[in-house]
Amino acid sequence: MKLPSATSFKQRTPQLLFAALLAAGAAPSFAADAVAEVRADQVVDTLESTFGVHAGQRRNHIKGTCAAGEFVGTPAAATLSSSALFSGKAVPVVARFSLAGGNPNLPDAARNARGMALELRLPGGALQHITMLNTPVFGAAHPDTFNAMLVASKPDPATGKPNPDKLKDFFASHPDAMSQAAFLQENGPPAQYYNSAFYSVHTFKFIDAKKAEHMVRWRFVPHDGEQQLSAAALKTAPHDFLEAGLIARAAKAPVQWDMIVYEGEPGDPVDNATLAWPEARRHFKAGTLTIAQATPQAGAECEKINFDPLVMADGIAPTSDPILLFRSPAYAFSFAKRLSGQ
Ligand code: HEM
Repeated sequence: MKLPSATSFKQRTPQLLFAALLAAGAAPSFAADAVAEVRADQVVDTLESTFGVHAGQRRNHIKGTCAAGEFVGTPAAATLSSSALFSGKAVPVVARFSLAGGNPNLPDAARNARGMALELRLPGGALQHITMLNTPVFGAAHPDTFNAMLVASKPDPATGKPNPDKLKDFFASHPDAMSQAAFLQENGPPAQYYNSAFYSVHTFKFIDAKKAEHMVRWRFVPHDGEQQLSAAALKTAPHDFLEAGLIARAAKAPVQWDMIVYEGEPGDPVDNATLAWPEARRHFKAGTLTIAQATPQAGAECEKINFDPLVMADGIAPTSDPILLFRSPAYAFSFAKRLSGQ
């Protein structure tokens, strides 16, 4: 999958991005600025205001599919992290694949982000969560940008679509939103979940047996190969093909992704998920995820899980990326509401 360079992000005009956003009929992903301070409960309110309230369901990434399988780590990863994830033994996984946004009726060909969330059940009851997107970068360096994007992309009651002037103002005032929007514009949506790579987006710390810290990012690369919907397929794709595709594919044979870990070098951004690292960073295979089965989410195991990315076991730790730290309370508000039937 092609990752636009920092230069191409700068050269892109906001108008092109707005066109892509509007073509989707709703904003693809979200973004923000580092000026005002917004609270997690306020962002969940904004999600509800933009997408409506769908009782008992996630306020973001509402449309999704449950899956299950296992993860087996490599000795190479065990040299950088003492996590039981990399012991070499199979770790059971509950997974959820999803589309970004709070619209349960979003077409599967929408030009927005896709998610892969994993709950890895380590020996002794410890949990490791990994909650990723199919974009290498995020659309906000700070929660305020994410909130402002949601506000700007709220459908105008007159047209049922976001107001182009509001989107234009948003991008003009929030340059940190540009890199993810450029990626989504330049790359078509994945042909299937199993044809998509998924990225940590944030930087994390791997902590080795001697307690030394290593800055890492990772991506899960599909064995089935990366494939995007062509321009023609974008127009003719059925409304809901992703779930049926994953269920059918997993029923035939296990679906796999390799976890590729990239090691940061001094100077690489670690607290800003809108900035990509150079592709040339040393990288290695840290494990393989195998999905053995997939099912609709209603009543399935993933439905009631909060895939909070700060649920971590020994050997992996968060950085101080403000978006990463903000996600945990935001997910908790959404989770508490949906569990209580709101
Ligand atoms: C300010 C930033 C963000 C906010 C406020 C936010 C908010 C949320 C909320 C409220 C949910 C639903 C939680 C639930 O009810 O269980 C959610 C789900 C999700 N988010 Fe975020 N998010 C943010 C950033 C990100 C980033 C950076 C990523 C990926 C790197 C991401 C990936 C996902 C995924 C994959 C899900 C679906 C998880 C599942 O399947 O249950 N989000 N987000």
